[in-house]
Amino acid sequence: MSYVDVQGRWIPTIGFGTWKLTGSTCHDAVAHALAVGYRHLDTAQMYGNEDVVGQALEASAVPREDVWLTTKLLPGNLTAERVRTSTEESLRALRTEHVDLLLIHWPSTDVPLAETLEAMAALVDDGLIGAVGVSNFPPSLVREAMAITPIVANQVEYHPYLSQDALLALAREHDHLLTAYSPLARGRVLDEPVIVEIAEEHGATPAQVTLAWLLAQDHVAPIPKATSPSRIEANLAAADLALSDDELARITALDEGQAGRIVDPPSAPDWER
Ligand SMILES: NC(=O)c1ccc[n+]([C@@H]2O[C@H](COP(=O)([O-])OP(=O)(O)OC[C@H]3O[C@@H](n4cnc5c(N)ncnc54)[C@H](OP(=O)(O)O)[C@@H]3O)[C@@H](O)[C@H]2O)c1
Repeated sequence: MSYVDVQGRWIPTIGFGTWKLTGSTCHDAVAHALAVGYRHLDTAQMYGNEDVVGQALEASAVPREDVWLTTKLLPGNLTAERVRTSTEESLRALRTEHVDLLLIHWPSTDVPLAETLEAMAALVDDGLIGAVGVSNFPPSLVREAMAITPIVANQVEYHPYLSQDALLALAREHDHLLTAYSPLARGRVLDEPVIVEIAEEHGATPAQVTLAWLLAQDHVAPIPKATSPSRIEANLAAADLALSDDELARITALDEGQAGRIVDPPSAPDWER
């Protein structure tokens, strides 16, 4: 497992995404991910699976302190009071005394950003969370957040069809992680001719090539979700794949700008602000 130093914290650069995983499927997938070496789990209040993720983590032979555990506040839980009470609920569900990272899942137009972030900072002071982060924040909002409290991560959609140059530059300049969600573009990369060709040259899979492209970037951590044991293992093995500068550039050239974005609900912020 490789790690990146972010503000003195060592964060595993490949994480396990759990959106859409519930019940025994979720339990088995998380248990397998931990057994084969993942040390970074991504869940959210919205996913309705914190309880199962917590059970799998508790039952695993991996010590809790070896795992970087992230959860996210539901958009309805952003007032100061709900930040605290809903995080306490998350911790009970996750069967842990603290999470390593708590994110604002989506920016809000209802609750002032300072109210939410100051309440999250108080949770750091009280030891309920290790660090504060955001998700789906465009550059101007990341700057606004950083002016209120230290931000350890911004989790955004990032894959070959959607470049994130502005957010990446901010992450490197201010030493926070750019966590790449939907890193496989939900499977779209699997049929991409450029990626398929590079994969064949390396005897690897298109998913591994895509993850290796993300892992080659400083301050980036992809969090692929997979269900079957073989995919869970194959995705982790992407860390062993080294691509040439030319191969990396060919994948970077697949960028489609905003047209490449998959996750774009009506409530989404102005991404380029
Ligand atoms: N912050 C946010 O707003 C936000 C939004 C979206 C996602 N996320 C996080 O990011 C994680 C990952 O994103 P995602 O789930 O949207 O998309 P993703 O990881 O890009 O793609 C997941 C899809 O790819 C398939 N897959 C995984 N590994 C594969 C492999 N080796 N070969 C072929 N297919 C493979 C999975 O199938 P199977 O499951 O059937 O194996 C699943 O259908 C989520 O689980 C969640 O934790 C966060």
